[in-house]
Amino acid sequence: MFSYRHAFHVGNHADVLKHAILVHVLDHFNRKDNPYWIIDTHAGAGIYDLQGAWASGRPSERHATRPAQTRGPRPARPEAEPARERRAEYLDGVARLKGAAHAPALIMRYLEALQAFNSPGELRYYPGSPWLALEAMRDRDRLRLFELHPSEVDVLAQNLSHHARGRSRQVALTQADGFEGVKALLPPPTRRGMVLIDPSYESKQDYRHTLTAVQEGLKRFATGSFVVWYPLVQRREVQNLTRALERLDTVWVHAALQVRRPASEGFGLHGSGMFVVNPPWTLHDSLAQALPWLAKTLGQDQGASHTLTRSARS
Ligand SMILES: C[S@@+](CC[C@H](N)C(=O)[O-])C[C@H]1O[C@@H](n2cnc3c(N)ncnc32)[C@H](O)[C@@H]1O
Repeated sequence: MFSYRHAFHVGNHADVLKHAILVHVLDHFNRKDNPYWIIDTHAGAGIYDLQGAWASGRPSERHATRPAQTRGPRPARPEAEPARERRAEYLDGVARLKGAAHAPALIMRYLEALQAFNSPGELRYYPGSPWLALEAMRDRDRLRLFELHPSEVDVLAQNLSHHARGRSRQVALTQADGFEGVKALLPPPTRRGMVLIDPSYESKQDYRHTLTAVQEGLKRFATGSFVVWYPLVQRREVQNLTRALERLDTVWVHAALQVRRPASEGFGLHGSGMFVVNPPWTLHDSLAQALPWLAKTLGQDQGASHTLTRSARS
């Protein structure tokens, strides 16, 4: 079993890019009355406490409690806590955006979505993709979640049972391989929907499985939105994946945000990318505004930059 736990990384620069785009796509779905399905192939734990031991990198703060006046859900705790202190990743991610008064519209909307889970002016609880989806959905929409890690699935199930009871009829969580599980759900009965593919890429196979999931998914559901996150790391699999995605005969937008120079020893995450098939027509131009601002705001050295491309047929 893999060791990746999203709570370690929550709210980092990669989550900012991913979730800002996710919120934009969800808003677009809500522009029409027709119901939709959201399929999250790699769901994670759902919602995270940024002051919890995992996200904050401070084991000694494990007993931090939620202030009585705080709005929003109190997330279930992961079962164990990390042993070593380390710098919390959200400090170089979402925390740098806090209080931004003149950010581009895509970012302001993302910050507004986060605020729904927190007391005014506070940023303590960070919603992962299932929670952003739950917040966006209407009564007629459906959410299908896959998570493979047994501990993570437990935390997500607890979070859902405590905080999403009103939506339980609309949500199904399956402990299974999301790459496999998604196949049986496409096309969704509503013929409107989005598939979020957000693996940890701990295994090299995730790159190939991601590409196959999009290719096969498009055969079953050509009009579906497929939203893929990938890491900027120094592996040839990254280039192979993005080149193959850009060769798809469909409409897409591809954004990448690099926050620092790739490390000389060849390791580490220096940014991330999002590839969106059948994107909202507003996405490209919104990203054209947001990405330079994000590179400046989240940049950690002179290597900070962005790219934005789209398919010939857009
Ligand atoms: C990057 S995290 C997901 C974060 C989440 N989508 C969000 O935005 O809040 C990736 C998750 O995928 C899970 N995972 C790994 N392999 C999987 C697989 N084949 N199917 C489903 N989940 C998997 C990991 O346990 C981890 O929780």
